[in-house]
Amino acid sequence: MSIHETAATAGDAQKAQARAAWALGDYHRFAKQTVWGLGPVLVEACGISPGQRVLDVAAGTGNVAIRAAEAGARVVAADLTPENFDAGRREAQARGVELQWVLADAEALPFGDGEFDVVASCVGAIFAPDQRAVADELVRVCRPGGTLAMINFTPEGLAGEFFELFGRYAPPPPGTPSPVLWGSEERVRELFGDRLAALELTRREYVEHSPGDAAAYCELFKETFGPAVGVRASLGDRPERLAALDRDFLEFAMRANQAPPGRPAEYPYEYLLVVGRKRDGAGG
Ligand SMILES: C[S@@+](CC[C@H](N)C(=O)[O-])C[C@H]1O[C@@H](n2cnc3c(N)ncnc32)[C@H](O)[C@@H]1O
Repeated sequence: MSIHETAATAGDAQKAQARAAWALGDYHRFAKQTVWGLGPVLVEACGISPGQRVLDVAAGTGNVAIRAAEAGARVVAADLTPENFDAGRREAQARGVELQWVLADAEALPFGDGEFDVVASCVGAIFAPDQRAVADELVRVCRPGGTLAMINFTPEGLAGEFFELFGRYAPPPPGTPSPVLWGSEERVRELFGDRLAALELTRREYVEHSPGDAAAYCELFKETFGPAVGVRASLGDRPERLAALDRDFLEFAMRANQAPPGRPAEYPYEYLLVVGRKRDGAGG
């Protein structure tokens, strides 16, 4: 077996594992309770208008894609985890919009060069391990002059702490970069280089509302957030480790809660809003 074949096999196994993890739980219920307000933020930041061709990368159940379709765009929702598409289709149908759902790895998008007027990703493409390949693909499928936009968790925000906590109990393969690196202005500039014009990088915040107290926030993750469901399942034969994870997570949820006493718990998450225009001659 050649070095390339070995690398491809390791990558494939990692992708299969990621897909299996994101298919656990109930992603749509999770998204509606937490990140659902971010889809319209990206649609507005991109200035999406009727007739534009829009790609939502790592679309989940269509947080950006459905809102872009509501704005009149022709939309493709692409994701590594097609198990979640049915929930997205139901949401789209209930809102009276149609879009295309496509199984796609953000590192190797199955689309032609320059096919889209807008390429967007909301806390999605950041989870693919090869960050350079993702940046190259986002640029490639966008037309020259088209808009590329992302919402990325920052390393300094709560998500940095959250992923570090779960990573202690299920370390990613050695060399895997943290998804929150995409929330560093320096890293984003490094990844896109001079391929984007009028690049705007803005730190903002959104608030996740627990259905109850801090413990209820933890329960939401344990029931609906696939990667958390997966990490807990992987500790099934080590009850002390599982109990330690649950303790650490509850401690995090109690400490990070910003709601006044007696109110449902609230969690402000910082993100980096990335918006740029693909330069002529930037490839793809
Ligand atoms: C936190 S969810 C965000 C989904 C959606 N954008 C939203 O705002 O609700 C992360 C998504 O990234 C997807 N994902 C993870 N790795 C991926 C990859 N390599 N290529 C495409 N999608 C990927 C997962 O399947 C999941 O749907």
